Amino acid sequence: MASGTGSNARKIVEYFSKHEHINVSLLASNKKQAGVLGICEEYEIDKFVFNKSYFYGSEDFVNVLKSQNIDFVILAGFLWMIPKYLIEAYKDRILNIHPSLLPKHGGKGMYGHYVHEAVKAAGETETGITIHLVNEEYDRGRAIFQRKVQLEVSDDPETIASKVLELEHEFFPRVIEDYIYRF
Ligand code: GRF
Repeated sequence: MASGTGSNARKIVEYFSKHEHINVSLLASNKKQAGVLGICEEYEIDKFVFNKSYFYGSEDFVNVLKSQNIDFVILAGFLWMIPKYLIEAYKDRILNIHPSLLPKHGGKGMYGHYVHEAVKAAGETETGITIHLVNEEYDRGRAIFQRKVQLEVSDDPETIASKVLELEHEFFPRVIEDYIYRF
């Protein structure tokens, strides 16, 4: 599930495109125009676009996932809170990536450049990524993987963002694979 540019979604799709056991069968987004949906055409992956009233007002999304035989849900830049019905249907099978070392710089409103601005403002000497299970509180599910990167005094939010994104691209697909195999 993604709503943004989808650079992580692209890495994930690429990584699993020729995988023996794991494949990406659906890309779901709350944004019709999301850059991420272009990936669907390129890789012949089904897409599903939905709005708020559908997502929160019914539980039909679970039926969509089940009808595609989906076992795991990956949030790659998907910002909406995941509703209870979905968390229950996919207990411990929804993963998210957050661009900081949680519990630092997480929670509602902490996404995209806000995270890296907060890291800079706090004078952190390191930041990183957290891959975690999704529960009903923003960024509070059990962390399954973290990786740090050192920061220089000269780093600004943009350079921090690019250091972090590099880590995301390197590790997210592999951590997903590992988690699925161990499940
Ligand atoms: C990433 O920084 C991720 O940590 C956060 O949203 C961003 C998505 O970036 N959850 P992209 O759309 O994958 O480029």
